[in-house]
Amino acid sequence: MVTDLSLALDKLQNGDVVGIPTETVYGLAASIESEAGLKKIFAIKERPFFDPLIVHVASKQMAQALTPEWSPMLDFLCEHFWPGPLTLVVPKSANVNSLITSGLETVGIRMPKSSLTLTLIERLGVPVAAPSANKFGRTSPTTAEHVRSEFKNEDILVLDGGPCEIGVESTVLKVNRTKEGYELAILRAGQIKKTDLEKALRNRPFQYQFLENISKQDSPGHMKHHYMPEIPLVLVKNRAYTSQKIMDKTKQMLHQLPDVVEGVRLKKPSQIQSAKEFVLPDQSALAARELYAQLRLMAKEPVDFLFFRITDYHSREEWQAVMDRLTKAASLILD
Ligand code: TXA
Ligand code: MG
Repeated sequence: MVTDLSLALDKLQNGDVVGIPTETVYGLAASIESEAGLKKIFAIKERPFFDPLIVHVASKQMAQALTPEWSPMLDFLCEHFWPGPLTLVVPKSANVNSLITSGLETVGIRMPKSSLTLTLIERLGVPVAAPSANKFGRTSPTTAEHVRSEFKNEDILVLDGGPCEIGVESTVLKVNRTKEGYELAILRAGQIKKTDLEKALRNRPFQYQFLENISKQDSPGHMKHHYMPEIPLVLVKNRAYTSQKIMDKTKQMLHQLPDVVEGVRLKKPSQIQSAKEFVLPDQSALAARELYAQLRLMAKEPVDFLFFRITDYHSREEWQAVMDRLTKAASLILD
């Protein structure tokens, strides 16, 4: 383990990338000071340059150095929620490489909760940029083995921190300071929900409001399709559909879809004859933890597609992150 850490440090210092554990999903990290490393992230992931990377820090001071406008609100949020699954999108300093931010004026920052990764960043002395360690548009990794199998053809060092505790990516929160107070916008749902933020901010001396309508410009990495497993996933909203009806509808509709949507190739088997139900635990935290590992496992089943039935409790706030991922992982939604 210790040797892996030294090896990882050496790689990061020399413009290479390293797989890192976090409490959410595994990341593919490069030093923010290495343009070669940053470019390698995009190349290996086959990720378009318009999708910004999250910068991972090991201290508040590291975060403060990335923005010219540190505020009491940021102080509060990072002290309350870090290390943890909250990414703060804030105005970026001029010295933050625009490869990281896709040319935006803001940068996403978070402090992950993995002692291995925090030690790595501390020893490197600079933050690392790290997207989830999967090919663009595909299912995110929650074990070191997932990362290795995702990048079979590249020789990538992966620090093994065990299975991720949370299992879905961090909540992305944009924080904008105005004359009146703060505007907060959740750009991506995660384990930390709006009500958790409201609860934390209760009785605190902040004027703030949540913005609900998020523009594509604010959240450029948000594609219609993402997290997709190797065989199609069909979301079934219509509660009355039997397995036979799901099969008939999928047969009829899957082939009418385009081959590629926003750069992500949709999986379309040549024949559609068999399917398996994708089931998750009925407790949201457990479902989140198992989501990606189960999707990867089920995608190896010798069937033509998977289907997931949406039920009443899935509309609760605690299910938002999982439902967001399932919706984007789906090739087809049956209403
Ligand atoms: O939990 C996580 O956040 C994981 C682990 C590895 O930390 N990372 C992760 O990175 O999910 P990635 O690259 O898969 O997702 C990054 C997303 C972007 O697609 C975008 O939606 C948002 O974070 N983001 C990053 N910087 C942003 C910015 N400046 N403005 C708006 N959105 C930003
Ligand atoms: Mg990702």
